[in-house]
Amino acid sequence: MVRKIETALVQAGRTPVKQYGFVNPPLKRGSTVLHASVAAKAEVGQRAFEPAEIYGLMGSETHFALEAAIAEIEGGTHAQVTGSGLSAITVPLLAYLKAGEHLLVPDSVYGPTRSFCDSVLKRFGVETSYYDPMATPAALEALFQPNTRVLFTESPGSHTFEVQDIPGLAEVAHRRKAKVFMDNTWGILHFAPFEKGVDVSIHALTKYPGGHSDIILGAVVVNTDEDWRWLRQGSLELGNYASPDDCWLALRGLRSLHVRLKAAEAAGLKIANWFAARPEVARVLHPALPSCPGHEFYKRDFTGACGLFGVVFKPEYSADDVVRMIDALTMFGIGASWGGFESLVLPTTGTIRRSAGTGQFEGEAARFQIGLENIDDLIMDLEQGLAVLRGA
Ligand SMILES: Cc1ncc(COP(=O)(O)O)c(C=O)c1O
Repeated sequence: MVRKIETALVQAGRTPVKQYGFVNPPLKRGSTVLHASVAAKAEVGQRAFEPAEIYGLMGSETHFALEAAIAEIEGGTHAQVTGSGLSAITVPLLAYLKAGEHLLVPDSVYGPTRSFCDSVLKRFGVETSYYDPMATPAALEALFQPNTRVLFTESPGSHTFEVQDIPGLAEVAHRRKAKVFMDNTWGILHFAPFEKGVDVSIHALTKYPGGHSDIILGAVVVNTDEDWRWLRQGSLELGNYASPDDCWLALRGLRSLHVRLKAAEAAGLKIANWFAARPEVARVLHPALPSCPGHEFYKRDFTGACGLFGVVFKPEYSADDVVRMIDALTMFGIGASWGGFESLVLPTTGTIRRSAGTGQFEGEAARFQIGLENIDDLIMDLEQGLAVLRGA
């Protein structure tokens, strides 16, 4: 019987009978693992592609518990945890690509992914082309080269929230013998990557799985033995490692992820709709609203949203006006990241880097992460913020 998502989040990655009856698996820290004999060490050393305790760097029961849980909730066969969300992007890129190959990356990609492609991958002889995240499959196909090995996707896009036609783009990539990578961080629990044509699904566990703004962690999930060999081999060779303390906290975060995400989704939608009705706002970049590019793909492919979205203000408001508004908010922290229990805001226009001519909006933009505070308190704060925006 396939257990439903709420049940999987509660049960996955723990076996109390093997844990002296304790509900949660132990937090295991360690480098050296002692083996009963030279032969036993040699035997377990052959099992680096399984959850086997060989040497701390290759993972412990704590890592394997989280990996089993993440693989199950994503619908994949294997997961590899990584030291950060960013390394969940860089590790598989380095694992799959070699000099002389080419990859396609959406113009709306998370900024540090772009930096990695433009610096490390370029230095190692891998060429990146940036494409319009809203490209049709036919338009994307025109950008493929004989050496295109990876189609990278991120849906919705960072800061600008374009929702991509993942199944359509994946069909082209597979026909062209390329692998489809997806940064699926926003779509946690709501986008089934392997049912939509993704080969390598990437998550910053720092966000909702952590949920408390106190860990840095990532995971890469695959769905075939072939992909697992590429990913695991690359991860081992790169010395990728994640803190067991952070893995243990992420596993604890998963237990309440469903209810936290439901609350964030409801509050996010309420505030996004509130913004959409405000005269200061040109449009709201929330995938569940028709004003968001790719809304039709959200409706087709996602089962829900998280609490992160963008707001574009009318052109009469300057970047300074938006900064004044943000500084005036008392309930929204000003800081990077999202998915924690607390509300955050950032001005985004100045941070958007594009090279394929996309991402132009009517006015200045800001990104809101809606936390678990009382929604009326948040709206009252936003009302006084908008008064500052208007110069009232
Ligand atoms: C979409 C997306 N992917 C990846 C990351 C990287 O995660 P981390 O901060 O854990 O490196 C972030 C962080 O903001 C993100 O927004």
